[in-house]
Parts: sequence; structure tokens; C-alpha cells
Amino acid sequence: MEPTALHVLCLASVFTLTTQELVGLRVSPKITAECGKQVTLQCNVSSSLNGLSVKHMEWSYRKMHLCSVNSEGNISYSRDTDKIWDFYCEYEEGQLSLVFRTAQPDLQNEYRCKLQSNKGAPHKYTTVELEECDGTVSGVLTSDGPSCTFNHVHPDRDVHWFLGSKNLSDGSANHNTTKSVEKGGWITIHSDLEWKEGSDEPFNCSLKSTKSGRYTASTLIQKAALKSLKATNGVRPQESMAAFLCVSLLFAVMLS
Ligand SMILES: *[C@@H]1O[C@H](CO)[C@@H](O)[C@H](O)[C@H]1NC(C)=O
Ligand SMILES: *[C@@H]1O[C@H](CO)[C@@H](O)[C@H](O)[C@H]1NC(C)=O
Ligand SMILES: *[C@@H]1O[C@H](CO)[C@@H](O)[C@H](O)[C@H]1NC(C)=O
Ligand SMILES: *[C@@H]1O[C@H](CO)[C@@H](O)[C@H](O)[C@H]1NC(C)=O
Ligand SMILES: *[C@@H]1O[C@H](CO)[C@@H](O)[C@H](O)[C@H]1NC(C)=O
Repeated sequence: MEPTALHVLCLASVFTLTTQELVGLRVSPKITAECGKQVTLQCNVSSSLNGLSVKHMEWSYRKMHLCSVNSEGNISYSRDTDKIWDFYCEYEEGQLSLVFRTAQPDLQNEYRCKLQSNKGAPHKYTTVELEECDGTVSGVLTSDGPSCTFNHVHPDRDVHWFLGSKNLSDGSANHNTTKSVEKGGWITIHSDLEWKEGSDEPFNCSLKSTKSGRYTASTLIQKAALKSLKATNGVRPQESMAAFLCVSLLFAVMLS
């Protein structure tokens, strides 16, 4: 080995050793966020602040810089990320917090906190996970049979249909279930049950939790409730439009 190469290698290892020893960071351990709630990632300088001068401290995601603080304690944000997530950062004496206002599926990533100081430049990673979210459910009865929609679901799950207490997922009826990923990573699940016969018992459209194995979200669709169901929220635009047209027609007839 050339003496110069050895020299550089030796210097480099001494440098890493000393910087690692001088200053460290402590980040929030793996975070399990609650649906829709605020999520806070903390990053603290773990050693004494005496004689430490913070030049730069930042939170980033992959190669994307989210926010940083300079030596004067001023926080700055990246313009691009502002459009993706609703978040802000707070800084106080060697502590930089990254706060996402609403927990959503696309926040599930690894984040990096990095410090640049006169006593070294350490970095630490932490991850965010989102707990199971059931969102909202609505059901309607159409001429083709009952159908239901789950909004803001996480993670993806199966739909099970029941007629009264009878499990229809055992093959006694087919259902066409479609899933789509919405903004923020939320999943929308729509299911149409193929059922044209009459029934006095209510249909029950359910989502089964992958974690607990229990049915955590469900809606009952009753024949008698047909009219009221169509009038409640969660009705698709075409249907409310149709209802509006129908009422307008009625008025027109009454007035003429
Ligand atoms: C960072 O410091 C604050 C204030 O001392 C403390 O409440 C918080 O738990 C610390 N966080 C971590 C990850 O060490
Ligand atoms: C940092 O903030 C202070 C006080 O708000 C301000 O006077 C100063 O100009 C800022 N410095 C930079 C580099 O933005
Ligand atoms: C209904 O049937 C499906 C498919 O066989 C099964 O996975 C599910 O556990 C059943 N649910 C109940 C409550 O029996
Ligand atoms: C299932 O539903 C989707 C969307 O509503 C539709 O495009 C598709 O044709 C349906 N498939 C069957 C087999 O009914
Ligand atoms: C629908 O059926 C499931 C499974 O039997 C049950 O856990 C759930 O409570 C029912 N939902 C309603 C609204 O009755």
C-alpha cells in the first residue's frame, strides 16, 4: 500500500471514531400512528450542548429534505414536500421535531434526522407505521342488489356479506368487489352483491380486521330502509342528482 493511501485511511478512521464519540442523536423509536391523529417525530442531540455549535439539523425522507434549521435557529422547508404532506417543524435547543398534522397511509416511511455541528455530523433513522383504519361505510340497495362502499380504509381488507346471520361468503352468492387507492394512500373498497331475489332480512356488508380477525366495520342494508338510505350521506352523485331531478319534477307537476 502506498504511504499516502494508508495515511488517508488512518486519518479517515480517526475522524469517524472521534466524530461518533463526540455528539449523538436520539430519535423517537418506531412510531405507530393513530388514524387521522397528529404524528410527531422527535430528534434530540443526546450529548451535552456545552461547547456544541449546531450548524445545521434536518429531517429528510429518502433524498427529500423536509425541514431544516440553521445555526441561528431558523427553520426552512422544502417547497416540493409542502404539496405532499401537511406538516411543520419545531426547533428548540438541540431538539428538532417533525409534526405531521394528520396520520395517513403514505406517511409510512423511514425518516432521517441529521446534524451538522462542530463536534461531528451524526444521523439517525426512525419509521412511521399507521394502525388499522376502518374509515366510513355506506350502503345502498340498487335494482341489481345491495352494494356498499368503505372510504378511508387502511390496510387493504376483504369484504364479507351476510344475509341476516347467514354467511354469504361461503359461495352462496357472488360479489364484485373493486378497490382503488386514493390521495394519501387511503383505500376505497366498493362491493356489489349479486342478489336479485327478495328478502325480508337485512344484508350486512362487513370488513374484517386483519389484526384482530374481528369485523370492525359494517353496515346493514334493509329493504324497508331503501328510501331513507338513498337520502343519507354516502350516496353517489348520480343518485343524489336523480333524486334532485325527481323532486324537481314532482314540484313542476304540483305547480302546473
Ligand atoms: C427529546 O427531548 C424532549 C425534551 O427534553 C423530551 O420530552 C423527548 O422525550 C425527547 N425525545 C427523544 C426521542 O429523546
Ligand atoms: C433568522 O431569524 C431572525 C429572527 O427572526 C432574523 O432576524 C434573521 O434574519 C433570520 N436569519 C436568516 C438567515 O434567515
Ligand atoms: C364467512 O365466510 C368467510 C369465507 O368462508 C370466512 O372467511 C369468514 O370467517 C366467515 N365469517 C363468519 C362470521 O362466519
Ligand atoms: C365489477 O365492477 C366494476 C366496477 O363497478 C365493473 O367495471 C365490472 O364490470 C364488474 N364486474 C363484474 C364481473 O360484474
Ligand atoms: C355484521 O355481521 C358481522 C359478522 O357477523 C358482525 O360482527 C357485525 O356486528 C354485523 N353488523 C351489524 C351492523 O349488525
